[in-house]
Amino acid sequence: MAKIGNIDVGNFPLLLAPMEDVSDPPFRALCKEQGADVVYTEFISSEGLIRDAAKSLIKLDIYEKERPVGIQIFGANLDSMLRSVEIVEKTKPDIIDINFGCPVKKVVSKGAGAGILKDIDLMVSLTEAMVKHTDVPITVKTRLGWDHDSIKIVEVAERLQDVGCKAISIHGRTRAQMYKGDADWNPIAKVKNNPRMHIPVFGNGDVNTPERAVEMRDKYGLDGAMIGRASIGNPWFFREVKHFFETGEHLAPPSMQERIDIARRHLQMAIDWKGEKLGVFETRRHYTNYFKGIPDFKPYRTKMVTCDNPADVFAAFDEVEQLFGDYQFESVV
Ligand SMILES: Cc1cc2nc3c(=O)[nH]c(=O)nc-3n(C[C@H](O)[C@H](O)[C@H](O)COP(=O)(O)O)c2cc1C
Repeated sequence: MAKIGNIDVGNFPLLLAPMEDVSDPPFRALCKEQGADVVYTEFISSEGLIRDAAKSLIKLDIYEKERPVGIQIFGANLDSMLRSVEIVEKTKPDIIDINFGCPVKKVVSKGAGAGILKDIDLMVSLTEAMVKHTDVPITVKTRLGWDHDSIKIVEVAERLQDVGCKAISIHGRTRAQMYKGDADWNPIAKVKNNPRMHIPVFGNGDVNTPERAVEMRDKYGLDGAMIGRASIGNPWFFREVKHFFETGEHLAPPSMQERIDIARRHLQMAIDWKGEKLGVFETRRHYTNYFKGIPDFKPYRTKMVTCDNPADVFAAFDEVEQLFGDYQFESVV
């Protein structure tokens, strides 16, 4: 059983990765329903939070049904990080996660995200100060290192554990790699095999089939899998992996009806959460995968991703239900 602080997250939990503009409350709730054991918010700027920026504050919304949920924050300034912990705490998250992995230039150039991998002492001291500042479990998500020549993740993870970090999720790429190449899980396994490590070590990067999740568990011996891109437009991925764990067999892909039902609910939840305009806009990225592989589907997908009025998007779902209701999806694996 893996535990994050006092939170029991089960045996080899599946975690929904923090993803900007993806891991919002409606999508997190859908992933939770489909078997995600822990979900994370997208990263939230500590500087934005302390300036009370409305755009940052809305990212703190949590539905009760998605718990346990981790709120992820990023920054490199101690005072801003501590003040944002105070703000985040008020929304009662189960976990506060620190992003020490974001590779984008505008974050890294301020020493935040993966930028901190160039200053491990600061990474450790920030984590320690945050742990001391709150009773909410602090976890860390990071990468293997800044670049191939500076991979010290075994030592880094141990130091983070020693200052009270309650779990670590490691993306098996360096900052220099961005998203290129394959994720390397070997260094993550070394972290886990360090006899001094006792907090959960979660693997991340390229878990995109149930077999890969099994590999992460059995071959690399990690404590759980954090799943990002494979879940976009595919919240069913979590249940597929769990089914495979239990039976060794692939679950049939979701039916057309189930896809349409989820698309409708997703859109409605997004509208309830953010209003019509943003609700319509922010669900668009999921439709391609929700309806992937259907022949001659383009005109309908175009409607879904170009209509600004929710009634028109719902009408497109109705039309698809009528025209393609009997379509049988082939297993993708
Ligand atoms: C669209 C998108 C947004 C992301 N945003 C975040 C983020 O806000 N915080 C974070 O720690 N990682 C972020 N990531 C990285 C993912 O959490 C994850 O580490 C990465 O995608 C590798 O895992 P995967 O192969 O399962 O997708 C993002 C990735 C994508 C594709």
